[in-house]
Amino acid sequence: MLDLMVTNATLPDGRTGMSVAVQDGRITEVAAGLRAPAEETLDAGGKLLSPHFCDPHFHMDAALSYGLPRVNESGTLLEGIALWGELKPLLKAEHMIDRAIAYCDWAVARGLLAIRSHVDTSDPSLLPVEAMLEVKKRVAGYIDLQLVAFPQDGVLRSSDGVDNLKRALDLGVDIVGGIPHFERTMDEGATSVKLLCEAAARRGKLVDMHCDETDDPLSRHIETLAFQTQRLGLQGRVNGSHCTSMHSMDNYYVSKLIPLIAESGVSVVANPLINITLQGRHDTYPKRRGMTRVPELMAAGVNVAFGHDCVMDPWYGMGSGDMLEVAHMGLHVAQMTSQKGVRACFDAVTTNAAKVMHLQGYGIDKGCQASFVLLQASDAVEAIRLRANRLKVWRHGVLLAQTPEVVAALQVPGRPNDVRFQLR
Ligand code: FE2
Repeated sequence: MLDLMVTNATLPDGRTGMSVAVQDGRITEVAAGLRAPAEETLDAGGKLLSPHFCDPHFHMDAALSYGLPRVNESGTLLEGIALWGELKPLLKAEHMIDRAIAYCDWAVARGLLAIRSHVDTSDPSLLPVEAMLEVKKRVAGYIDLQLVAFPQDGVLRSSDGVDNLKRALDLGVDIVGGIPHFERTMDEGATSVKLLCEAAARRGKLVDMHCDETDDPLSRHIETLAFQTQRLGLQGRVNGSHCTSMHSMDNYYVSKLIPLIAESGVSVVANPLINITLQGRHDTYPKRRGMTRVPELMAAGVNVAFGHDCVMDPWYGMGSGDMLEVAHMGLHVAQMTSQKGVRACFDAVTTNAAKVMHLQGYGIDKGCQASFVLLQASDAVEAIRLRANRLKVWRHGVLLAQTPEVVAALQVPGRPNDVRFQLR
């Protein structure tokens, strides 16, 4: 007998009336109209069953610290970095852990079961690294948490930047990060990309760099990242995060750059909520949007995903771990309003993000892990439009979270007060 059978589900690719059979945490069959005895059978009623959401770019060490020790008044990236610098000496590991665990609870309730978090390695104490390694251990039963060694203050800007980053990797941090646009000069930025990619190649690690998170159109570290990726044979193992300078670059240069990125197999993660908030801050009017060129990169065959980046921290006071909110903002900023565009934004927080993260067994297919979400929506487009309720969240076939279906009951004078309907 099967453990779980979900029937009459709609899948993100548009197939309807689909049954998904689960045994021992894995999907054993996906077929239309399939029926078989199971410990639990759930009729999805035509609603959307999606693989779980993935956040390929986050900062869990700073999450939920909003207001500590003060609020970012200008709202800029640079005041955020300065504010984080003020907060760091005040941080206590147990408080960081508590905040991160609280965030992970929010994430699970939202069907977000895989998160790649950058962890600040700038301080020689490596306190955030030790705290996040502990969080990774504690949440391992319900969230796949990947950690990136992130030299927030610039790996070459301080004399012990490289050493601290390497020590973080030695302690068990998974991925090599970087921040070339924050190094002192363009040359130093390029040098940092080279040495960090070489370190990753030596250690067999993936690379995920904050790359060109600036409105400066001459910030071209993504070009160096693509070049070093090819030189070192790291194709498919490197991600460029943010890449916001591409928004402001000369079109002729971009016509050369995007094919170069595609050829190198470097993926790109945009962070719509943060890019639209932090970029363009030096502009008067018109103000640039600042998000990288998502549809153009996708059209060239580059794997593009969306990240949440921040939730209630020195850079961003909003957010709730909802990747549908991220996709919703992404499609607005990128003007991806066609049906195909909206579906691509759904992919950006599911399948594309899983690919960036190298997740194994991801998807709703035979043999994949039974880690999926039932949404109160008829398809992926409606899920984004409504930021739909996550009715049930399973991981490896185990139900982790559930939320009652929202049905509105009218109390309007002149209307019958027994009218109940689903919000559409
Ligand atoms: Fe970031």
